[in-house]
Amino acid sequence: MSINSERTAFMKDIRSIRSYKSDPIDKEILMDIVDAARMAPTARNIQPWEFVVVTDKSILQELSEIHVNGDFLKDAPACVVVLCNTNTEYFVEDGSAATQNIILSARLYGLKSCWIGGCKGPFYENEDIPMCEGEPCQILPLYDDLCSKLKDIINAPRELELISIVSLGYSDESFEADKRPLEEVLHWDSFKEKNK
Ligand SMILES: Cc1cc2nc3c(=O)[nH]c(=O)nc-3n(C[C@H](O)[C@H](O)[C@H](O)COP(=O)(O)O)c2cc1C
Repeated sequence: MSINSERTAFMKDIRSIRSYKSDPIDKEILMDIVDAARMAPTARNIQPWEFVVVTDKSILQELSEIHVNGDFLKDAPACVVVLCNTNTEYFVEDGSAATQNIILSARLYGLKSCWIGGCKGPFYENEDIPMCEGEPCQILPLYDDLCSKLKDIINAPRELELISIVSLGYSDESFEADKRPLEEVLHWDSFKEKNK
């Protein structure tokens, strides 16, 4: 097959977008997005996931008030909360694959999105807390409490792990990608240090 980077262009253009128009998203579109999410790869085909689609403004508002890095949820017409049963050691990978399927399928419907971190990592309360670059991440003292509150808002069983919340909406916003170049990250056959 000849190389045509147009094929992958829609994926390469996907950026995390955090402001949306107020237009609602059709229920059928949201259902199809979750249908794509449930088809993601999953270790041993365990499919540990559950998806809560939130379109209720008051619930979006509540989530935005609790999630310290998701305040823009209040302005999104919808989000999908990805939760996983922890009966598989690969629940984070499985839930992450499903999350990416949500982002990709949403884009095919002309929607923009942002992956909002779940409960695996700490939530950073403000800029005074280091973003763990080169250092072990700091777990916030109130972290477990925050996660429980998020799950309570959507009546999710506490034993499920919150993997991500994906905000969704129509938007005219776009950003230039600031990404490491292909030549730097791609290694053929064996790892080679670049630019040394
Ligand atoms: C695991 C994970 C957690 C993230 N958590 C948040 C978050 O809590 N809030 C947020 O605004 N963006 C979050 N993001 C989005 C990243 O900030 C974003 O992907 C990154 O800055 C690169 O920008 P781009 O997606 O536009 O290329 C998260 C992304 C990933 C993969």
